[in-house]
Order: sequence, then C-alpha cells, then structure tokens
Amino acid sequence: MRKNIVVFNRLPAALVQQLSETYNVTVIDPQGDFDSQLKRALPEAHGLIGASKRLGREQLAEAQNLEVISSVSVGYDSYEVDYLTERGIMLTNTPDVLTQTTADLGFALLMSAARRLPELDAYVKAGQWHQSIGEAQFGTDVYGKTLGIIGMGRIGAALAKRGRFGFDMNILYTANSPKPDLEKELDAAFCDLKTLLQSSDFVCLVAPLNESTYHMIGAYELQLMQPSGILINIGRGPLIDEAALYDALCNERIRGAGLDVFEREPLEASPLFSLKNIVTLPHIGSATHETRYAMAERAVANLTAVLNGTRPRDLVNPQAWAD
Ligand code: DGY
Repeated sequence: MRKNIVVFNRLPAALVQQLSETYNVTVIDPQGDFDSQLKRALPEAHGLIGASKRLGREQLAEAQNLEVISSVSVGYDSYEVDYLTERGIMLTNTPDVLTQTTADLGFALLMSAARRLPELDAYVKAGQWHQSIGEAQFGTDVYGKTLGIIGMGRIGAALAKRGRFGFDMNILYTANSPKPDLEKELDAAFCDLKTLLQSSDFVCLVAPLNESTYHMIGAYELQLMQPSGILINIGRGPLIDEAALYDALCNERIRGAGLDVFEREPLEASPLFSLKNIVTLPHIGSATHETRYAMAERAVANLTAVLNGTRPRDLVNPQAWAD
C-alpha cells in the first residue's frame, strides 16, 4: 500500500517529484485556503512535510494515521511536542545544514543596523545624495566592540566566531550552561542576562522560543541596554515584547535594532515600520538557494526514514520512537 504524504509548505518541485515515485503526495496550494485543504488531506495522511505553519492539537485531531511530521526548519515551536509524543507521532527537524547561513544573516543584519545600510541605500536611490553625508547619518563601529549572544547553540557559536575572528569582538553569552570549549576557543565569557545586556554593544538573540524565553526582552531589559546598544533578533519574534521595543526605539533608549523575526509573521503592517532606526527582514535566516535545498533534502530523508520504519537522523521527540 502506498502511503500518503501532505506537503504543507516549502518543498522544491524536484523533491515533490522524488516523493511521488513512492508515495501519494498532496501538495497544499499556497494560493488556496490552507486550513480547508489541510483538513481534507489529514485523515488519510501518514506523513506531513513543510515549515512555517502552526500545527497544534486542534489541527491534528483528525490525523488518525499520522506517523511523522518532518519540519523543514531547525526550530520546532510551531508544534506541540508533548502532544505529538503522547500520540506516538515522530517530529523531525533540520539542524546543522542551516547553521552557517543563518549566522551569516545574523552578522549581515548586525552590520546593516550598525552602518544603517537600508536607510542610506534608500537615501541614495531617492536622489537625495547632493553632498557628503554628515553626522546625522553616521553609523557605529563594529570592529573591536562587545557582542552579547543570548543562546549559545550551534548558530550562536557560528555568530560568535564571526565576531571574534572577523571583527576582533569580545564575546559574552548566556546559555543553559557554560561552554568551556567555546570559551577557550573564542575567549568568550559566560554571564547572566543582566550583565550581558549592560555590557554589550550588540545584543543578538538566537535562543529558541519556549515558555521560559517568551518576551525575555521587555521594557526592563531594554532599559538595561546601553543607549548606544543595538538589538538583533534572528531567533523567534516572541522573544521580544515588540511594543516595548517600539517604545525604546522611539525614545532612543537604544540606538537601533535589526529583526529577521516578528511576533506575528508574515507582518504586513506594524508601528515599527515608521522607524528609521530598525532594519526589518522577512524571516530569511536560512533563505539561500543552497541552504533551503539542503534543508528540504534532509527533511525528505527524515520523513522517508520514519515511513520505512527506520529511526530518522533528526528526531526531536525520541520518546515517540518505539524500538
Ligand atoms: C528555522 O529553521 O527554524 C528557521 O527559522 C527557518 O524557519
């Protein structure tokens, strides 16, 4: 019997074709109504593959045959892991393959915010460059400054290396536990959040989203940052209380921000858009041709492993795996 797969987002056509050779594949049409298409396909589905859609218990109640959700992402905050485990549904993700690309983007965002690249690009294109720019448009140095990283996982470490070896930065970090090897390699210092916020020129969020990290940066934390500080978020939007950030940027309590992720995505309108001292991106941390393809291939491998009865490489909930 051929098993049924639902592609719910983000899978290149070549990989859909590859899956179609072995499985019945339903691809959700991004132009159509997502919920009704998913609802129709779920009762027969053995596997789901895709990313950037919330799939909680309310969506999955009717997925009685579901064996695996293969997420084309490293983050898995769109799923209820405990619920999936209770139901014996495997959840897989795509770590490693996006680490360097996402760290590149983090650094690009940091540089853009520091040197005000989007703002000055728009200024040139608007034909406003009539004479040498003055202090009002100067940026801030990056080289030799202090980079504070909140969440020293794979991506945090890759970002720290760029800062340390590319820009001679001092590295501070918070994490669940100290990382002695990294400290040795990068001369990095483990500290608490308050110290990191007070001592860093650039604060970069790379932490996962969960109950303990929700709104971890709010009005109080922004107040702790230096007035010349710049806040970067390449983790998840809800790590920051966006209303508090808007207030801090408006009142110049910090110098600037660079966000790749937002409390609500996609974000079509926001008070943040009226501010010059923020760089906004549409969640593109891993969005290069090479990396997105590598993530999709890895997700296909995880999906097919489970459907073939083999333990997948990237199992988020190993408790769901019955040997
Ligand atoms: C991830 O993989 O978690 C990135 O944020 C892209 O969704």
